Amino acid sequence: MSDEQEFGRKAKDRNGPGVTPFRYPGGKAFLADLLESKIRTYKKITTYAEPYAGGAGAAIELMARGTVERIALNDFDRRIHSAWWAILHRTDDFVERIRATTVDLATWYACRQIVEENRLDGDPFELGFATYFLNRTNRSGVIVGAGPIGGYAQTGKWLIDARWYPDTMCKRIIWLGQRRDRIELTNLDGIAFIKSFPKKRAKETFFFIDPPYVQAGAKLYLNAMNDLKHRDLAQYLTGNPTVPNWLVTYDDCQLIREVYAAASVEQIPVRYSLQRKRTEHEICVVPA
Ligand SMILES: C[S@@+](CC[C@H](N)C(=O)[O-])C[C@H]1O[C@@H](n2cnc3c(N)ncnc32)[C@H](O)[C@@H]1O
Repeated sequence: MSDEQEFGRKAKDRNGPGVTPFRYPGGKAFLADLLESKIRTYKKITTYAEPYAGGAGAAIELMARGTVERIALNDFDRRIHSAWWAILHRTDDFVERIRATTVDLATWYACRQIVEENRLDGDPFELGFATYFLNRTNRSGVIVGAGPIGGYAQTGKWLIDARWYPDTMCKRIIWLGQRRDRIELTNLDGIAFIKSFPKKRAKETFFFIDPPYVQAGAKLYLNAMNDLKHRDLAQYLTGNPTVPNWLVTYDDCQLIREVYAAASVEQIPVRYSLQRKRTEHEICVVPA
């Protein structure tokens, strides 16, 4: 199903777009039903938070459904953070830029340079737009280290603009801009982000935690985690009654089975569309 068809189908079911404007490797919008049913089992949830937000597909879907009123999105990658910041806080400029952009290799090279330099003193709007451009024009939406759809010679079956749908993208972005007051955005390490919630608020927050995969994470997006950090996260979640409402997803591997031994672990089938479609298993962990 193309983005356009999917967007059309989902838009029919609700009053507006409410779909993430990103293509995200390992995106979790498909978990919305599962997350919704978990959220409904907890009382008094006022906020839904994603410490490793990426394209935040599930968060946007749940906000569109009305399951959650407020969402808090955090990602440690300042390129992703800049893209979200520009979408939410410079919405009109972002939409205008999408409409004015020529989708070709020259623009792709210019954006890649901005994203690779990732300058601390650079303009966050330019970094955010360049990141978003690569997300829409690179193979599988991988921002760093992937080539353009159609290859450098643009001889593939699909070309660089195959996933660039300006109307759809702009509708999604405008929808988000209109809801910016209900979307908090931060650029912290995921564990620091969870710890930043004061006790009372943490109790009223549902955390959907989707860290980089232990095994393939670094190929797909920034991976600022290592085995020790995966352990620290597990220890904090399983040993901390002040953060009671959470669901974690991971690739099914020994380390995660071990560090979440005190929690409840289930397998969920995941459809991947990276390179080719295949079904693999991913773990879903919830408090015991
Ligand atoms: C599996 S992806 C999240 C995908 C997301 N659930 C979605 O549906 O699009 C993991 C994200 O974690 C971010 N990340 C990597 N290390 C991090 C860290 N230490 N703290 C916070 N975010 C981190 C990456 O930039 C990436 O966007």
